[in-house]
Amino acid sequence: MQPTIAANALAYVKQIFENDFSGHDYFHTLRVYRMATHLAEREGADVQTVQLIALLHDVDDVKLSPATHQNKDNARRFLAQNGVEQAAADEICRMIGEISYVGTDSVTPATLEGKCAQDADRLDAIGAMGIARAFAYGGSHRRLMHHPDIAPKTNMTEAEYRQNNSTTINHFYEKLFLLTDMMSTDTAKRIAKQREQYMRDFIDEFMAEWDGER
Ligand code: ADP
Ligand code: NI
Repeated sequence: MQPTIAANALAYVKQIFENDFSGHDYFHTLRVYRMATHLAEREGADVQTVQLIALLHDVDDVKLSPATHQNKDNARRFLAQNGVEQAAADEICRMIGEISYVGTDSVTPATLEGKCAQDADRLDAIGAMGIARAFAYGGSHRRLMHHPDIAPKTNMTEAEYRQNNSTTINHFYEKLFLLTDMMSTDTAKRIAKQREQYMRDFIDEFMAEWDGER
């Protein structure tokens, strides 16, 4: 892609997410952009399209910008101002709408480009990065790290997932350990397996320390 569009998009995202401490900061988008580029190259997807989806995937997020979520107004304005044709912009916005994790209401994107962008976003929710983001999110939402009497709930719909107010440790069972099987591309599946193992080792250590065994 023209380097200027990527640079413009990164500058735009930096400004939008300046005050976000819930796990959607600028560096999240930067990591997703880099991972999405890697997946696109390995999987033979259209790199420019994947990069634009990755760069703009959170600018109309329902939690961060509910008023623009439906029509993807922020992404559309950015694409128009940067000379992307209307038809290509429509397609990019449609694919952005498919990538978010919404419990059992999540969808698998129809195109390889959407799959690469979704896998990259999900990879950033697991591994060392996923552990750090989960506890950062939990702190910013005033959640307990762990409560032995509160059991995890799986198979949540979008509404249940959004209302859920459980502990951060439960989030591993409610979402993070489910993501490996939800990856679409082979490249992402391989990376996800390693990251999942790292998280499982972390949970084992956490529980052993919690119980005073180590
Ligand atoms: P998305 O990136 O698909 O918009 P979310 O906004 O749901 O996803 O999540 C942002 C980050 O916060 C992710 O790393 C996610 O795993 C984490 N997160 C979301 N919900 C919780 C929760 N209940 N407890 C801990 N971490 C969470
Ligand atoms: Ni994201």
